[in-house]
Amino acid sequence: MDGNFNENDLSRVVEADRAHIWHHLSQHKPYETTDPRIIVEGKGMKVWDQKGKEHLDAVSGGVWTVNVGYGRERIANAVRDQLIKLNYFAGSAGSIPGSIFAEKLIDKMPGLSRVYYANSGSEANEKAFKMIRQIAHKRYGGVKHKILFRDRDYHGTTITALSATGQDERSAQYGPFTPGFVRVPHCLEYRRHEQDGAPVENYGVWAADQIEKIILAEGPETVGGLCLEPVTAGGGVITPPDGYWERIQEICTKYDILLHIDEVVCGLGRTGTWFGYQNYGIKPDMVTMAKGVASGYAAISCLVTTEAVFDMFKDDHTDPMNYFRDISTFGGCAAGPTAAIENMGIIEDEGLLENTVTQGHYMVEKLDELAEKHSCIGDVRGKGLFIGAELVEDRDTRAPVSEKMVQAVVGDCMAQGIIIGATNRSLPGKNNTLCFSPALIAKKDDIDHICAAVDAALGRVFT
Ligand SMILES: Cc1ncc(COP(=O)(O)O)c(C=O)c1O
Repeated sequence: MDGNFNENDLSRVVEADRAHIWHHLSQHKPYETTDPRIIVEGKGMKVWDQKGKEHLDAVSGGVWTVNVGYGRERIANAVRDQLIKLNYFAGSAGSIPGSIFAEKLIDKMPGLSRVYYANSGSEANEKAFKMIRQIAHKRYGGVKHKILFRDRDYHGTTITALSATGQDERSAQYGPFTPGFVRVPHCLEYRRHEQDGAPVENYGVWAADQIEKIILAEGPETVGGLCLEPVTAGGGVITPPDGYWERIQEICTKYDILLHIDEVVCGLGRTGTWFGYQNYGIKPDMVTMAKGVASGYAAISCLVTTEAVFDMFKDDHTDPMNYFRDISTFGGCAAGPTAAIENMGIIEDEGLLENTVTQGHYMVEKLDELAEKHSCIGDVRGKGLFIGAELVEDRDTRAPVSEKMVQAVVGDCMAQGIIIGATNRSLPGKNNTLCFSPALIAKKDDIDHICAAVDAALGRVFT
């Protein structure tokens, strides 16, 4: 830390936080007797709290966001210069950084061509849902309006995004929800024994076939969109089984269903490719992204579509209702695309996609080694630097450990100065996966530190 503050300032900050801040996903009762944590500074993969304690951050800002690491002057300087030149104008007009970033982004996304700017993952997903609904009205008399989402996936926090969540502890108590959203089964092979009829062979094709069954039961003429995470994040870091995506693509084509891929977590390098879907040869109609687009240096999200989707909104220009009548005030902030241009430049200049693949393999190896020592590790899975370790009471029955035990592991690592994550108040009885998403700049040494902390924590918590 550069020590640019003093103890008195910070105790005042802590009191102001305790008195006035409503933290996300948090029960505040404990803050009556303990101090809330204030993160004061960050550099590379490290952050320091109000007590000056150093932490190695294995979750990129808590929620897989700070992909290029903390303290990037290149991004800060570009944003500063842009803000002085022009901070904002509504999205009905263009901007220099908005156009340049769109061009760079599209260059990484063959088959897609149009970028709609917004400012959060939830908002970008809402835009995709609105497009699917409007297409249903314009082309199919409103009938083809249903949107399928998958068990264990998450697409955001607004009421409609929660209508599309497969995480029941996230949506509980916030209904009633938006109608027309239909749940399909998850594709977590490790838990196939909990799914009726799931085979050992060709599980991926079977899991995709379950989606087709639901489409047929609902009536294909009523289903307009299928929204999926390429690798499910908060639902337990679920990598797709072999054969899954090929079959999904066939199903979408067969029934004329728009495929919307939620890249809010996987987007911009997390899995070692620019986008998660690119690992699996998927051809989406719509892609949403947010967190890693500017690594948290500015709020930005994007909905990217094919030209075919775009064209559906300008087919009859004499109809005053026939365009995408949507607005995002803060989608016009110039800081977002400015930061995103530099963020992408850093990933390219520093070879971070390659590093993500190399270090991701290394981390899986290290966690597999831990699994030999700790029988509570039932499954290690991931892609790039996006890795989960599912904890079980018994490897044969695969019974999940309690969320309390998982949080004890997270807490023990935190006490050691290593910040890791876990599925958190999302899946009833199944918040049992430790989550790792270090910045894409992670080195072997960082991975060693993270895994050593997990080793020690598991040893203490599961004695
Ligand atoms: C896959 C996925 N989609 C969407 C969102 C929502 O993004 P935001 O919190 O920016 O609204 C999240 C947030 O964690 C997410 O993990």
